[in-house]
This record gives sequence, structure tokens and C-alpha cells, in this order.
Amino acid sequence: VRLASRPQNRAVTSTYGLGTNGAEQAERERLAYVERYHDAFTIDCLEKVGVTAGWRCADVGAGAGSIASWLRDRVGEHGEVVAIDLDTSLLKPLVARGVVVRDQDVTAGPIHEQALDLIHARLLLVHLPARERVLRKFVSAVRPGGIVLVGDIDFTAFEALDPGPAWVAAWDTFLLAVEHAGWDVACGKHLAGLLARGGLEDVRAEARHGAYRGGEIPCELLARTFERLRERLLAMDLPSQDLDSAVGELRSSEHRFLAPGVWTAWGHRPRAAQEHAA
Ligand SMILES: C[S@@+](CC[C@H](N)C(=O)[O-])C[C@H]1O[C@@H](n2cnc3c(N)ncnc32)[C@H](O)[C@@H]1O
Repeated sequence: VRLASRPQNRAVTSTYGLGTNGAEQAERERLAYVERYHDAFTIDCLEKVGVTAGWRCADVGAGAGSIASWLRDRVGEHGEVVAIDLDTSLLKPLVARGVVVRDQDVTAGPIHEQALDLIHARLLLVHLPARERVLRKFVSAVRPGGIVLVGDIDFTAFEALDPGPAWVAAWDTFLLAVEHAGWDVACGKHLAGLLARGGLEDVRAEARHGAYRGGEIPCELLARTFERLRERLLAMDLPSQDLDSAVGELRSSEHRFLAPGVWTAWGHRPRAAQEHAA
């Protein structure tokens, strides 16, 4: 990456860079990989915190809705699930299953006030420059004793174990592009601190990490993320042949990678003083 192309002096932009924006099919397929890779770990953590029948839950930045759908099954007919996203085009099918689907930019307006038993957001805070402020909204949205559970990625744990000559330029440009867009590339490992600073109690965090060959799910997911950001990466002077070569490595079983770290963290909103005393 030529230094002149680095966006050091440009303001951070907050536009979500992976919206469907006319590429609904590509984003639907990319989110299907997200769900295949992340759901088992997320659900494991949701089970640990005890989500059960009758709970009121929100899934924020719900994407294509696999977790909202799981929550819907888990809370049953006496519970409630709200799925919120900037772009709810992929969530509409959940309405027939009783999920309340809401178009909302979570950086604007309240979510709920002290009403929820659980709020969940996966792969959302990583994108949001206002993540501290949004996290405080999450805390306000749950009842005293309610749970905020968030999942995110740590790209700094990612490593190409046998990189080809174009890899470093492509990877560095990707990191610069997303940092310029306001992402926290190490967001996953920062989640526990974020929750504690947001005033939550009993904060816990767990991570999953692993080695993969090109073409396996986390590598294919990154290849698709590179492709969705193609115009942005080329605009930062990454040669298209370097981008194609990096995507090829991510899809070739000849290449091996350490996947980004996948983190889930959760904490409880403090109970009111009189509840502690009761
Ligand atoms: C990487 S996707 C993750 C989807 C889903 N949570 C999952 O893990 O399968 C991020 C989602 O957050 C949504 N999003 C991004 N910025 C948002 C905002 N400011 N308000 C609401 N949703 C937002 C996007 O539209 C997208 O559906």
C-alpha cells in the first residue's frame, strides 16, 4: 500500500459499508456464511445466560435473522422478540413467525426503556464509531437484572500462515479501509471492557479461535467481505490483481490461516438497591 493512499487525515465515516445497496443476493449469501460460522457459539452463550420462555428480547443489527429466529423459538408464545436493523429486507420472512421487525438506525433514538430481559447484538458494534454510546442505550433498554449479550470479531488475531506476495498489501488495505470507516478491528477482545465501562455487572467473555484452510467457512467469509468492499479497496490504490490474488488465497486449500478471534461477552444491568435488599 503506498503511503499516499492511506486515509490518515480523513475524517472517520460512519456509513455501514456492507449494506445490501442493490447487492441483496450477495449480502444474503455473505450473511448465510456469517450465520453458519457464528451461530453455534452464539447459541451456546445464549443458553448459558438462561434465555427461556416468556422473555422479552431484542436482536439489534439482526441481519438475516438466524438469532432472532432462534430466540423466537426459545421464548415461545408468551415471550416477545424484536429484530432491529437499518435494512430489514432480509428479515421480513420472520414477521409471519411473530417476530416484530423494526427499521431503525440504532445510533438514533431509544431502543426500549428498561423493558427487555435480553438484548443481543452480533457483528454490529465492530462497525459503529459510536459503539460506547450505543452500548449505553442497550443498558437502558434492559430491565434491572436484564442481560446485554454482544458478539464480535477480532481481526488482529487473523493471520495468513503462508502468505503469497500480494497478501500483505491486500490485508493492510482492508484494515485501513475499515478503520477509516470507523470499525474497531480488535472489537471482539474489547467487548468485556466496553460492557464493564457501560455499567454492567458480572461481565464474562468467551472466545473461539482456530486454524483453517482456504475455502473453509471463515476464509470464504473474509473473501466475500473483500469482494463486498472491492470498490473501496481499489479506490485506495490496491491493484485489482493483488485483490484477486488475495481472494484466491482465501479460497485455495493450499493456503492456511488462523481465523479472526470470535468473542461473545455479556453482563447484567445492576438491580435497583431495593431489589438487592429484598
Ligand atoms: C455483519 S451484519 C450481522 C448480522 C447479524 N447480527 C448476524 O450476526 O448474523 C451487521 C448488521 O448490522 C446492521 N447495521 C449496521 N449498522 C446499523 C445501525 N446503525 N443500526 C441498525 N443496524 C445496523 C446491518 O444492516 C447488518 O444487517
